[in-house]
Amino acid sequence: MFVDGKVALVTGGAFGIGFCIANELLQNGLKGVTLVDVDEAKGKDAVDALSLKYGKGKIIFVRADVVNKKDLEDAMKKTVEKFGHFDILINNAGVMNDTIWEKEVDINIKGVVNGCILGLEEYLPKYNSGTEPVIVNIASTAGLTPLYFLPVYTSTKHAVIGLGKALAMRENCGVQKVKLMTLCPGATLTTLIDNLESRAFTPRLTETVKHFFEQYPEEVTQNPESVATAVVKILENGGNGSVWVVQGGELYEIEIPSFTDYKKLRQL
Ligand SMILES: NC(=O)c1ccc[n+]([C@@H]2O[C@H](COP(=O)([O-])OP(=O)(O)OC[C@H]3O[C@@H](n4cnc5c(N)ncnc54)[C@H](O)[C@@H]3O)[C@@H](O)[C@H]2O)c1
Repeated sequence: MFVDGKVALVTGGAFGIGFCIANELLQNGLKGVTLVDVDEAKGKDAVDALSLKYGKGKIIFVRADVVNKKDLEDAMKKTVEKFGHFDILINNAGVMNDTIWEKEVDINIKGVVNGCILGLEEYLPKYNSGTEPVIVNIASTAGLTPLYFLPVYTSTKHAVIGLGKALAMRENCGVQKVKLMTLCPGATLTTLIDNLESRAFTPRLTETVKHFFEQYPEEVTQNPESVATAVVKILENGGNGSVWVVQGGELYEIEIPSFTDYKKLRQL
């Protein structure tokens, strides 16, 4: 089992999907995990809850804003100091709110780029415990199929997919010592999707957005635990550069078209 005995850092790990990922990794034999989040109170609660279940000393919380590279680096340093190794980085922290789109771009793109640079170039190659280390970036199905009321969120998640694909291609140049994969969850029942109508890019859309989930097929929504299970599965079986969807609890790999595939759809 890949996860067994490894050390992980999960951004946005105090709550929602990130918390569930940390829990699932520990359930699968993880040696230690650093929860990185801006929410200190939730971070402390998360450490208490997980320590009660898995024992003291296996979980630490570091208050860090992923937008700030120094913050994130400090969290990686503390991970190595505490656990001796660092093998798995989950770039999960994100927001979904187009009314604060500049901040959303910073957190969802800059935060993931920061994690990738620090993880790929420095901390994972240097401090892994002997097997190939891994980064999983959490994108969204919105990075594949646009959400009309969240055009900026949609763009940030397209960016996360593109970033992961491009960085993983470094394998062809022989400089890649870290496996990099992308997971795109579909609608997942966390506070991220509460009050959807208050997050739309333009207030003119508020009324239509209110009813968005009423028309949404129930079978494509899922609990955050489904995303966490998917993370462990791809850590065990996924390849470098692979892109995965987990929707309605179902996990599958998808292909991004190559140059030669573009023309298959429609030619004039
Ligand atoms: N919930 C969904 O439907 C859904 C679907 C697809 C993708 N996602 C993605 O999954 C990820 C997690 O979402 P979630 O549903 O668990 O959201 P959530 O709001 O429940 O949890 C997000 C966590 O990230 C933390 N966070 C926010 N900004 C941060 C920052 N700058 N630095 C560090 N931590 C920060 C928050 O404090 C919170 O604990 C996000 O990237 C989101 O875009 C969610």
